[in-house]
Amino acid sequence: MKRIFMSGCGGMLGEAFYEVFKSDNNLKCTDIDLNEPWLEYLDFRNFNEYQKSVSEFRPDFIFHIGAHTDLEYCEDNIDDTYITNTISVENAVNIANNLNIPILYISTAGIFDGSKEIYDDWDKPNPLCHYARSKYAAEIFTLQQAKYPIVLRAGWMMGGGPKKDKKFVAKLLKQIKDGATSLNVVDDKLGTPTYTYDFASNAKLIIEKEIWGLYNLVCQGVTGRYEVAEKIISILNLQDKIKLNKVDSSFFKEEYYAPRPDSERLINKKLELRGLDKMRNWDVCLEEYLKNYYNDYLS
Ligand SMILES: NC(=O)c1ccc[n+]([C@@H]2O[C@H](COP(=O)([O-])OP(=O)(O)OC[C@H]3O[C@@H](n4cnc5c(N)ncnc54)[C@H](OP(=O)(O)O)[C@@H]3O)[C@@H](O)[C@H]2O)c1
Repeated sequence: MKRIFMSGCGGMLGEAFYEVFKSDNNLKCTDIDLNEPWLEYLDFRNFNEYQKSVSEFRPDFIFHIGAHTDLEYCEDNIDDTYITNTISVENAVNIANNLNIPILYISTAGIFDGSKEIYDDWDKPNPLCHYARSKYAAEIFTLQQAKYPIVLRAGWMMGGGPKKDKKFVAKLLKQIKDGATSLNVVDDKLGTPTYTYDFASNAKLIIEKEIWGLYNLVCQGVTGRYEVAEKIISILNLQDKIKLNKVDSSFFKEEYYAPRPDSERLINKKLELRGLDKMRNWDVCLEEYLKNYYNDYLS
């Protein structure tokens, strides 16, 4: 049984990490948002508190999961973005190094500029917005400074259900629940959905193998926002009730003003070459996600 310290564990991805790791590990899960009975309070921006909380637990591993993930918040709150998404990760790496233990850091497909259609693990990032820049800076620090780093890049996250999901799937479902009969969806943004449970399960395999380094970790298959919306409507059998309107990103320029790449599609090339890519296709995961979390939501 390993002892694992998880910080920023109260969000979409933290829930899946808790579920996947809890049965055969001893966990201390922390966040500033105590939305679960298994969470303890830690604001990881506070280095002394972070160090104290980790030292008391004496973990074998630190999973630094949380971040500010709202791109517009990050554009409007630049200092807090770099304190939360970059400097806090540097602190976590130093704490892990002092204890001579490994650290897991979660990065994002959003660090690319979209000039290519598909990115493997060795493509060069070129972040367009402060969220992406802050995440990429923490990625570089972790890989260069941690004694035993694992950096995993996720794509468009799906997970947590109505209570925790802050992203695309939840936003569409909320509109449907509120009675929308037509939905405006961009058709100029490409990416790869990432189901939190597949991500946490594949992360577990990587950690067990102790193969330190950087890995893309997204669901299989290439897609875009519009196709994901079509699939949601088809899974829910709402084709006769909901009309999808194709729009381009300028339609949402007031609401979503942080620059976003046209493509942030990843492939898990390194894991594929190692025979360790266990991620399922995004549409299979989407169907499972809606079944498990949104079954009664619309009724
Ligand atoms: N969501 C995506 O599409 C996506 C894609 C690629 C990579 N990622 C990365 O995946 C990781 C997990 O993201 P997620 O989707 O699970 O995000 P999330 O649902 O927003 O969860 C992040 C959690 O971290 C907490 N947090 C923020 N600042 C904190 C602090 N100073 N101290 C302690 N906890 C803090 C948040 O609390 P509050 O809610 O109170 O702020 C939240 O509970 C992040 O590193 C993110 O950058 C996410």
